[in-house]
Amino acid sequence: MLPKAILAIAALAFSPANALWPIPQKITTGDSVLFIDEAVRVTYNGVPIITIGYNPPAGSNFNSKEIVQGAVSRTFQSIFTNNFVPWKLNPRNSNFEPKLAPLNRIQTIAIQQTGKDTATTFKPRAGDVDESYSLTVSKNGQVNISAKTSTGILHALETFSQLFYQHSAGHYFYTTQVPVSIQDSPNYPHRGVMLDLARTYQTVADIKRTIDAMSWNKLNRLHLHITDSQSWPLVIPSLPKLSQEGAYHPSLVYSPADLAGIFQYGIDRGVEVITEIDMPGHIGVVELAYSDLIVAYQEMPYQYYCAEPPCGAFSLNDSKVYDFVDKLFDDLLPRVTPYSSYFHTGGDELNANDSMIDPRLKSNSSDVLQPLLQKFISHAHSKIRAQGLSPLVWEEMVTTWNLTLGSDTVVQSWLGGDAVKNLAESGYKVIDTDYNFYYLDCGRGQWVNFPNGDSFNTYYPFSDWCAPTKNWRLIYSHDPAKGVSKANAKNVLGGELAIWSEMIDGSNMDNIIWPRGSAAGEVWWSGNVDTATGQNRSQLEVTPRLNEFRERMLARGVNAMPIQMTYCTQLNATACTLFA
Ligand SMILES: *[C@@H]1O[C@H](CO)[C@@H](O)[C@H](O)[C@H]1NC(C)=O
Ligand SMILES: *[C@@H]1O[C@H](CO)[C@@H](O)[C@H](O)[C@H]1NC(C)=O
Ligand SMILES: *[C@@H]1O[C@H](CO)[C@@H](O)[C@H](O)[C@H]1NC(C)=O
Ligand SMILES: *[C@@H]1O[C@H](CO)[C@@H](O)[C@H](O)[C@H]1NC(C)=O
Ligand SMILES: *[C@@H]1O[C@H](CO)[C@@H](O)[C@H](O)[C@H]1NC(C)=O
Ligand SMILES: *[C@@H]1O[C@H](CO)[C@@H](O)[C@H](O)[C@H]1NC(C)=O
Ligand SMILES: *[C@@H]1O[C@H](CO)[C@@H](O)[C@H](O)[C@H]1NC(C)=O
Repeated sequence: MLPKAILAIAALAFSPANALWPIPQKITTGDSVLFIDEAVRVTYNGVPIITIGYNPPAGSNFNSKEIVQGAVSRTFQSIFTNNFVPWKLNPRNSNFEPKLAPLNRIQTIAIQQTGKDTATTFKPRAGDVDESYSLTVSKNGQVNISAKTSTGILHALETFSQLFYQHSAGHYFYTTQVPVSIQDSPNYPHRGVMLDLARTYQTVADIKRTIDAMSWNKLNRLHLHITDSQSWPLVIPSLPKLSQEGAYHPSLVYSPADLAGIFQYGIDRGVEVITEIDMPGHIGVVELAYSDLIVAYQEMPYQYYCAEPPCGAFSLNDSKVYDFVDKLFDDLLPRVTPYSSYFHTGGDELNANDSMIDPRLKSNSSDVLQPLLQKFISHAHSKIRAQGLSPLVWEEMVTTWNLTLGSDTVVQSWLGGDAVKNLAESGYKVIDTDYNFYYLDCGRGQWVNFPNGDSFNTYYPFSDWCAPTKNWRLIYSHDPAKGVSKANAKNVLGGELAIWSEMIDGSNMDNIIWPRGSAAGEVWWSGNVDTATGQNRSQLEVTPRLNEFRERMLARGVNAMPIQMTYCTQLNATACTLFA
């Protein structure tokens, strides 16, 4: 599309001086140095704004200026407090830093929002918000940022922050790439992470830190898989026993204030939070609070009734289940609608055998169960629509159960193969969570036990079902809409990384997600193909930038894991390359 710009990228391919992540769609840079300090004047639509220590107020009335001001404060924090000296990205003992010349500095940052935000800017459906921006830095230190929406401005400020390094002489910060000219926008509107809060409780702080890192990666959807058969940490005031009996511990809950706080934290950072209550399977824990809604709770041998212990599904032909869901939704959905346009009703891995032992049904035939499931999901989705929300479901609702869903429904595909392509070609809006690429929990061995004898011998050496680990290079090779016809490619809204939490908590969450999530983030933002040449972006171009971005995330307090040893990061990418 833009050959000149892309050539510029190619020419600088081995220089860490162009290490933006995700790489902008269109960028040109120079090689002049400018410093920056906290005195730089920042204006928003011509009016000076606060630059340090500002947090937007709590509440559900979002305001563009407050959001931009918060983002500017975080940008200053990233540049002046959580920055790093890039010795790890330059040759051993080399003199890679510019001479101190703090008078050559950025003078002003002029932020211009050319359009007006609306309520949908802050809780968009896919395609509702223009995320594009332009960013220029002139040789004399004038920075111009322009975007239609505050969301675009958030992205621009993040890109701007990545231009700067700390100088080893102390509190000095510089860029080496002036002049800069960037025009940028995403390829996909839905760029997400799914966190499982039910198998392991994740703290609000861990969730918020993940939102921070997502915003640096220009990821914009956080899907909270907030309940499952293992635990129910979500406080529902009108059904208090759910969390009282269903949380792992009375302290391990998300109060309504916690949930609202997570939603707001996300919106301030351009991340829309999507809540999932997985049903009618994956909901056994309700048995502990409200018995006789659930069948097959803790049934054994579990593999005949569910994918992992404990089993448990709604009884599919019981009016009490409808009463329960109505009460749950009447409580929860009005607390979602101020902040989000989506609600996920799950629907994965429903095992028909659960209904075989349901005294009301005693059947596992899809002829019997399919109409009951259709009625149940239609009912649930009508409640969701009545609140102005759009439903999301896991793919089995379509691919296994052949349910008829409203045209507003988004289908999340995880089973791989041609599912994303087939769903998109059939007209479904689809999100790609193909386990072969996007399940970041995979490849770390089993968590279930294998008793001595047959079980031990059969399952030795105890690989997990979705091994191997999804290396960032594998993730980077995958583009959700690849192979989908041009006419239907727009049905592929984007992707989500899945962080199923059987063995993930705050101790390892960061380095499970980052920087592998960054690899997906770049593909969803600007693609894995160089549009000028039509060739795949080379790992030799990508790796130095990802190495650097990892250092940046680390400096900002996220424990992203290294993807190469320092021997490699200090040399150009060919030093650690295997030529066939
Ligand atoms: C930045 O914006 C100002 C005011 O709109 C304009 O005069 C200037 O030419 C712009 N600079 C660049 C490099 O675009
Ligand atoms: C249902 O249970 C039977 C044993 O009763 C088992 O053979 C079958 O594989 C189970 N089906 C599923 C989908 O787990
Ligand atoms: C479901 O329940 C209704 C009302 O109790 C009953 O008429 C119907 O036969 C049941 N369906 C099945 C498949 O058992
Ligand atoms: C239904 O149950 C029968 C008898 O237990 C079993 O053989 C069959 O595999 C089950 N079908 C499914 C879809 O689970
Ligand atoms: C799925 O449902 C549609 C209509 O609801 C029907 O036309 C189609 O034959 C069904 N397909 C299968 C495989 O049951
Ligand atoms: C480009 O990447 C795709 C996977 O995304 C791969 O199938 C293809 O072989 C690659 N092409 C080259 C020339 O390496
Ligand atoms: C990369 O480093 C090698 C030595 O390790 C050198 O021969 C080569 O010219 C360098 N390539 C570039 C593009 O700088």
